[in-house]
Amino acid sequence: MKDKQIEKLIKEEEKRQKSVVNLIASENIVSDDVLKALGSKLTNKYAEGYPGKRYYGGNQVVDKVELLCIARALKLFKLKPEDWHVNVQLLSGSPANFALYSALVPVGGKIMGMKLTSGGHLTHGHPLSMTGKLWKPLQFELDKNTEVIDYEALKTLAITEKPDIIVCGFTAYPRIVDFKKFREIADSCGALLHVDMSHFAGLVAGGAYPSPFPYADTVMTTTHKSLRGPRQAILFVKKDAREFDKKLDKMVIPGLFGGPHENNIAAVAVALAEAMKPEFKKYAKQVVKNAKVLAKELQKLGWHIISGGTDSHLILMDTWMDGKGVPGKIASDKLEKAGIIVNMNTIPGDPRGVMDPSGIRLGTCAETTRGKKEADMVKLAVRMDKVLRN
Ligand SMILES: Cc1ncc(COP(=O)(O)O)c(C=O)c1O
Repeated sequence: MKDKQIEKLIKEEEKRQKSVVNLIASENIVSDDVLKALGSKLTNKYAEGYPGKRYYGGNQVVDKVELLCIARALKLFKLKPEDWHVNVQLLSGSPANFALYSALVPVGGKIMGMKLTSGGHLTHGHPLSMTGKLWKPLQFELDKNTEVIDYEALKTLAITEKPDIIVCGFTAYPRIVDFKKFREIADSCGALLHVDMSHFAGLVAGGAYPSPFPYADTVMTTTHKSLRGPRQAILFVKKDAREFDKKLDKMVIPGLFGGPHENNIAAVAVALAEAMKPEFKKYAKQVVKNAKVLAKELQKLGWHIISGGTDSHLILMDTWMDGKGVPGKIASDKLEKAGIIVNMNTIPGDPRGVMDPSGIRLGTCAETTRGKKEADMVKLAVRMDKVLRN
């Protein structure tokens, strides 16, 4: 590389990544093939529009790349092209959710989603996000005692408030969600059901988490978390008389974006093919096994694990424990000094607040990619406990 300054920084970051235990639940370690596609000359191409309908010339190859990516997305999640439409041009998860609402929910309509402090994402209608400004947010919380979703309370809220869309999907909720119940709730108030499977898409692909597709109207996933691809997102919408496919594509371009990032789309296609392999099924199952063991061991060592455990790659740990432990930020800083990277996180009904929360979020995707197994998780829990109690 001729740019020595950037080359040095890239090397520094590679060294940092290698030297730490990565427990960031939304991160993973991509393959060399994904990196090759990302750094390929596809980045030079402008391709506004869709395959066969572009504004610029010279799209013979990128059209094939995009169509292959779409075909792989359908195949990976066992979907029929006559039932589901796929748009692979979304640049990341937040703009993807924004595009979806913009296409299907009238401005001023109601978005019902999980509150950030309960494990929802900003783009599920948080008042600070544009999704909570352009649309009316209707935020729900977890049951205070069980620390899981109270479906009856959700149904009552939905019937009373009549949201236009219900977002089912989470950034810090460790449990399997009952998509069938969400479908019933959406039907009880005439709302659309949008599943944001950004966190658990890789687990769905690997058969380690239920598929939302039999129940959802629309599904979004980022491709860079458990799916182990580049930073990008995919939107799936049901094909029927409601014409979500046409509405979405029109909103993506010309509504919101210009040229798609074809190098990213190629890298997504690579990751999707990798996720179809039998090794990925093993990987997804190991991710969950590792998370379950880590949660259980931390619990044995006296820590409060939200909801009492996990069914996924994700653990929400209350490090503050009403003053008996340490706040999430201090916990995160202490762990980082010891070479373990996590993020501070609110816990349901957090007594401390978003900027200085009570907990940390852990995830096992990256370390499982590195080949870590249950025995490593037992050791890791002991190491974390020592650091946090020191
Ligand atoms: C559930 C969920 N949706 C959307 C996003 C947004 O994705 P991005 O950071 O790619 O915009 C995230 C990111 O953490 C997420 O967890």
